[in-house]
Amino acid sequence: MSEETLSNLLKEDRRFEPPAELAAHANLTEEAYARAAEDREGFWAEQAERLTWSKKWDQVLDWSDAPFAKWYVGGELNAAYNCVDRHVEAGNGDKVAIHWVGEPVDDKRSITYAELQAEVSQAANALTDLGVGTGDRVAIYMPMIPEAIVTMLACARIGAPHTVVFGGFSSDALASRVVDCQAKVVVTADGGYRRGAPSALKPAVDEARAKAAERDGHTVEKVLVVKRTGQEVDWDDSVDVWWHDSVARASTEHQWQAFDSEHPLYVMYTSGTTGKPKGILHTTGGYLTGCAYTHWAVFDLKPETDVYWCTADIGWVTGHSYIVYGPLANGATQVLYEGTPDSPEKGRWWQVIEEYGVTIFYTAPTAIRSFMKQGREIPDARDLSSLRVLGSVGEPINPEAYVWYRQVIGGDRTPVVDTWWQTETGAIMISPLPGVTAGKPGSAMIPIPGVSADVVTEEGESVPNGSGGYLVLTEPWPSMLRGIWGDDQRYRDTYWSRYAEADGGKGWYFAGDGAKKDTDGDLWVLGRVDDVMNVSGHRLSTTEIESALVSHPKVAEAAVVGAKDEDTGQAVCAFVILRDEAGDGGEDIVEELRNHVRKEIGAIAKPRQVMIVPELPKTRSGKIMRRLLRDVAEHREVGDVTTLADSTVMDLISGRLTSGK
Ligand code: WTA
Repeated sequence: MSEETLSNLLKEDRRFEPPAELAAHANLTEEAYARAAEDREGFWAEQAERLTWSKKWDQVLDWSDAPFAKWYVGGELNAAYNCVDRHVEAGNGDKVAIHWVGEPVDDKRSITYAELQAEVSQAANALTDLGVGTGDRVAIYMPMIPEAIVTMLACARIGAPHTVVFGGFSSDALASRVVDCQAKVVVTADGGYRRGAPSALKPAVDEARAKAAERDGHTVEKVLVVKRTGQEVDWDDSVDVWWHDSVARASTEHQWQAFDSEHPLYVMYTSGTTGKPKGILHTTGGYLTGCAYTHWAVFDLKPETDVYWCTADIGWVTGHSYIVYGPLANGATQVLYEGTPDSPEKGRWWQVIEEYGVTIFYTAPTAIRSFMKQGREIPDARDLSSLRVLGSVGEPINPEAYVWYRQVIGGDRTPVVDTWWQTETGAIMISPLPGVTAGKPGSAMIPIPGVSADVVTEEGESVPNGSGGYLVLTEPWPSMLRGIWGDDQRYRDTYWSRYAEADGGKGWYFAGDGAKKDTDGDLWVLGRVDDVMNVSGHRLSTTEIESALVSHPKVAEAAVVGAKDEDTGQAVCAFVILRDEAGDGGEDIVEELRNHVRKEIGAIAKPRQVMIVPELPKTRSGKIMRRLLRDVAEHREVGDVTTLADSTVMDLISGRLTSGK
């Protein structure tokens, strides 16, 4: 974001006070900030009381081995029991947990907490029969169907950490994740529906299993397959098992067991600054506390009356924390939607809100921007008056999109909570509170009670109001990542080395985002300061895409940058040097390379633009100056080139581009 846009942003003076009615009955009030600041651990102990513990903790936080935290030390609980069984025991068995809406119209099913309990128990029994024991990893590669949630909870129930891989990822991406966490079993479906057509998933699992075996000598022992679309699948009797033959026939009784508060709950892979995705590890007690508390506080959830809907995919952390663990721990009723927003009609989402009377709606700015483009007639055609709180996540929300969201979708009555957090933080960290905060379009405002954040200089000095710097979290929090799967050093290096000396040597958590404090001290998150891009709210690493490009036989070198894009926030732009023997690469080289990235990583990583260039701008030490490439990709005048080893390179690149070659 340029300095100019920044200062425009900071001049934003529209304010939206909380509706009086909401403020009067808000779950969390102004006092919570002071209470949490006074006794942070006491505050978090209170939040953990939202859960049902089999054994109470002895100590709230053990931070003696920083940055490796332990929360609710000595406590024991079962996450699935907390998300399902206890609601049935409390007499809410007939309450709907999930209104599932399939993509094909009329393909829908409402599942009560009692039904969910039976299905999760069956799946837990079936996974056990397949040889999954406590501590074994299970990979999940599924469409947005209830069985995906059932599988996650079944894993939690038996203490087998799950790793959900987004269904849009390629077989290669799946294979590398399966290998990294040594998954014993993969749970998948024959396919899912995408814009009215079945789209296969099982073949990617077959390929990934073969790759894991050939390349890394890792054996996936069993593949459990849900029949969703009925499409043809290859079948290996020694490995493949149908869900309807195993889970559906298993006993609906399953005795859950309590696990240590720090027992691993799941690993979620996310992009970092190197080519290899990081397996972010979350554990049980602290994570579930963070999810339950934030989902209740930030959305002002009233479980008896609200109908909540988060549009994320369960393949991302938002789906984990705000579809599965937060809402279910809170006993909420929610909508789960399988499809895309605009299929079979542009207004499908608004139709779903009308049909189910959704009251709390949580989505991403990229979706909001695409609806703005389609025009307000589409949502206006539906009755959206049930909505009372709107949420945004994944990237900075531009003020115009915020105001449109509030006015058009929220009928100018609903607060918009712009929630900043990350895969690593596990739960929302910075956000307005709907019954407390006068919202400012574009600002995530201040940390929620219990969380401590700051914006600091390179040297770790807190910046004054009106200035920008790096976003840090200055105190540990319950849902924080516990590490990177199998790589403690990378965990320290990535998050804790930059401000290692802070807080008496315990360090601060470096988020990788730039931020600014406005004159009131409210925070504006500006985006990544590292080599991570944010495309439609999805995290992608520049290096990962560069490695994919370089794996193509015609490519000698590649540099990737995220360039500003009106629809997707950022877009992938690649600069590629071809190998000599590839000549000019042929007429279709650009398409060939774009599709290659799609095959290697997945459709979300497919570059918007591939530019074939003769050279790349490098410093004398050989580091690619992406800043200059970003100037080119964003059609700006190229900035300072004096640190380049060869300052004529940028002329060559710009010249090549303007001559259209
Ligand atoms: C960005 C998604 C501005 C940020 C939950 C962060 C945001 C990265 C916001 C994490 C927001 C997320 N305002 N930026 N409200 N929410 N981000 O791990 O750059 O997929 O570091 O987690 O998304 O992405 P992740």
